[in-house]
Amino acid sequence: MMGEMMEERLQKIMAELGVASRRKCEELIKQGKVRVNSIIVTELGTKVDKQTSVIEVEGKRLIHNINKVYVLLNKPIGYITSAKDQFNRPTVLDLMSNIEERIFPVGRLDYDTEGLLILTNDGELTYKITHPSHNIKKTYTARVKGRVQNTAIEMFKNGLNIEDYKTAPASLKILKFIENDTLVSITIHEGKNRQVRKMCDAIGHKVLELKRISIGKLKLGDLAIGHWRYLTVSEVEYLYSLEDN
Ligand code: URA
Repeated sequence: MMGEMMEERLQKIMAELGVASRRKCEELIKQGKVRVNSIIVTELGTKVDKQTSVIEVEGKRLIHNINKVYVLLNKPIGYITSAKDQFNRPTVLDLMSNIEERIFPVGRLDYDTEGLLILTNDGELTYKITHPSHNIKKTYTARVKGRVQNTAIEMFKNGLNIEDYKTAPASLKILKFIENDTLVSITIHEGKNRQVRKMCDAIGHKVLELKRISIGKLKLGDLAIGHWRYLTVSEVEYLYSLEDN
């Protein structure tokens, strides 16, 4: 329940999180190999708040994925990523009706952008993914108006002035020309409001269609538009392993 302490014996929590049997976990505790909130705990009866405490076994942090939900959605165009909208437009949460937990989008995608969106009820992971210091690469494909020249590659690398902000080095690849438009792939590490659209505007190519295809190693793959799947354990572990830069 919200706000209520979830205290349990340390060895029980460790066992539930898949470290080893409870007996083996007791041994690890007695051997001084377990830290709770940075402090070594050797007493077996110790009770710990399993929702909030940071437990490390032999220096490796345990992930509390009990009751935590991690979802990867292929967001369709025409949905907003905030929970409420003054214009009453549909929100991505409307696509999640069969998930009971209260989950929230991690970061945002524009109403008119489609593609990879993570949703979770894990605030710590949300922080990790969205905090600028983590520098996670986000890759988009965009159909832009006009024929993009190779000089655009250098311009993206050098940074572009969008309003009063200079963008960090980004990469642009020309994938193909479609009639008088260009399909490009763009990778940025930042997440300013409408950043990809503004960067393309800055080189004179209006974005016609925009789709996010990856966040770090997480890929949209062939998930159908409007569909979602749970993240795998290794995907969640990967996100947790992201270091500060
Ligand atoms: N950049 C944009 O311009 N829009 C998005 O939705 C995401 C990145």
